This record gives sequence, structure tokens and C-alpha cells, in this order.
Amino acid sequence: GLVNSRELFKKAVDGGYAIPAYNFNNLEQLQAIITACAETNSPVIIQVSKGARNYANETMLRYMATGAVQMAREMGSNIPIVLHLDHGDSFEICKSCIDSGFSSVMIDGSHLPYDENVALTKKVVEYAHQFDVTVEGELGVLAGIEDDVVAEKSTYTQPDEVEDFVKKTGVDSLAISIGTSHGAYKFKLKEGESVPPLRFDILEECEKRIPGFPIVLHGASSVVPAYVDLINQYGGKMDGAVGVPEDQLRKAAASAVCKINIDSDGRLAVTAKVREYLANDPGEFDPRKYLGAARKELIELIKHKNEAVLGSAGKG
Ligand code: G3H
Ligand code: 13P
Ligand code: NA
Ligand code: ZN
Repeated sequence: GLVNSRELFKKAVDGGYAIPAYNFNNLEQLQAIITACAETNSPVIIQVSKGARNYANETMLRYMATGAVQMAREMGSNIPIVLHLDHGDSFEICKSCIDSGFSSVMIDGSHLPYDENVALTKKVVEYAHQFDVTVEGELGVLAGIEDDVVAEKSTYTQPDEVEDFVKKTGVDSLAISIGTSHGAYKFKLKEGESVPPLRFDILEECEKRIPGFPIVLHGASSVVPAYVDLINQYGGKMDGAVGVPEDQLRKAAASAVCKINIDSDGRLAVTAKVREYLANDPGEFDPRKYLGAARKELIELIKHKNEAVLGSAGKG
């Protein structure tokens, strides 16, 4: 069945790699994640946002996740699979997911005053741990949009808070803010400017305060330029879309960062392939054709992430 993230993170921190956390909202995304992770023998966290619950129904997504475990086993793969709530914003949402069989949840109190974040996170941890469900907390605010939580600009994690937060709350992992943001427009670059490096100095300061403790990186899509180009070539308009370069993610994966969240790159792959397919075959109206093309690309993208960026391939 599903497992929590505890053992996976321990191995990943020790091994200098990161477990991929891919968001899913529909069948094709989940098939692609499972196929790619089984074929690369990578442990995987499949995660569900509040938006995904609204779109696809929480019960449906949970049954899909248990079906996904079964699918992996039928493929002859024994990879660990975690079903995780992404950016839970209340105790009630976390409880609902824990009660229904999620093996891991995130409580995102990063937008709250520090003491309220501590209190809310602690409450979720106390509930979750009764059922051996692992909990991710967050300190520092990412720029961009986290579901309903809108942050104009990023507030980096304050290293002086992390030890106290981890001790007081009992969380199993901690998401930090070191310069990434959600979505496809992570950096506003002027003409000729290149992407600024992530704040690895802040990451290092955090690691010093909580040695060996599992750290999570959100907003970690690379916004693969080839997909943005395809989208623009086939009628889309995504000028200025830019993400985190792969070398930055490799560096993060080698550190105490043991979970890397990727959603936008999958969305871009799907959109690029659907646009390309329909532009080249305007008479096609069978969704299996264009969604099949999208799913095939998604499998390649995820294999690449596991093998060449996160280093999780072969660790299943
Ligand atoms: O953190 C945001 C994730 O990419 C989920 O996005 O809320 O649109 O499903 P969503
Ligand atoms: P991206 O938008 O960079 O894919 O980030 C996803 C994420 O952090 C989900 O929690
Ligand atoms: Na790591
Ligand atoms: Zn996130």
C-alpha cells in the first residue's frame, strides 16, 4: 500500500538525492508518473492540492492513488509511493485527508504569524502521528500564488527560526523559501538578464541549525524552454515564462533538500503536446490521441527529472 515519507527522506538525505513530488489532477498525469517512476525505479510522492480536490474530487483522487500502487505492482515494480496533501491550509483539510487514507500531509501556515504557524502545525502533527502520517510544515513565504495564499514577493526563510519551529511542532520535514516561486513565471528578467541563483547561503544556514533534517523545495519546475517554445509556436502566448535551471536543482538535491515539488513542468509538457497535436491534425477529435501524446511526453519528462536532475532513479 501507500507509505509515509519518513524512510524515504532518511535515505534521500543520507544519499544526497531528492524524492520527486509530482502533482496530479487526472488519470493521464497519474499514469505517466507511475509509469516513469516504475521504469526508473524511483520512489515517488504523488500529491494533491486543494485545487486538485476541487477539480477531481478527493475520494476519486484517493482511489486513483491506491489504483496507482496496484498498477506499479502489476508492472513488477516495488517502488514506495506516498500520497501527500499539498499546501493544506487548515487543520480540517489535513484531518479529512488523514482520515481518508493519505499517508502524508502538508500544513502550510507560512502566511501566518510565527506563533500561529507553530500552533497550527503542532495541532496537525499531533493528530497525524496517531495514524503514522507524516507532516510537512513551511517557514518563509514563496513569491507567487500558493492556492489562495497570495504573496507579492518572497520572504526568505529565517534560519534563526527553523530549529525552534521543528522542535516545537514535531514536523517530519520543513519547506523553506530560498528564491523559488510557484508557476511558470518565477523571475521577472530584464533584457539580457539571466536567472539569479537560489539562496544556497540561506539553505546552508538552515542546515546548520537542523543537521540532517529533511528540507523541502517548492516551486522547483524548470519551466522547460522547449515546451514554452512549442506552446508559443502553436498558438500559445507564454512570453517571459522562466523557471529554475537544472543545475540549481541538482545542487539542491545533493543537499538536505530531500523532496522537490514539480507541477508546472508537467502542465507545460501536456499543453505543448496537445497544442502541437491538434495544430498538426485539426480533424482529430478523439481525446485519447492528443492526451496520449501528452502522456507519452510526460513520461519522458519525469524519467529525465528522476535520472538526470533529482537523482532518485534506482533508489526505489
Ligand atoms: O502549489 C501549487 C501547486 O502547483 C498546485 O497548484 O493549486 O493550481 O492545483 P493548484
Ligand atoms: P512549480 O509550480 O514550480 O511546479 O511548483 C510546484 C509546487 O511547489 C507544488 O507544491
Ligand atoms: Na538531498
Ligand atoms: Zn508548493
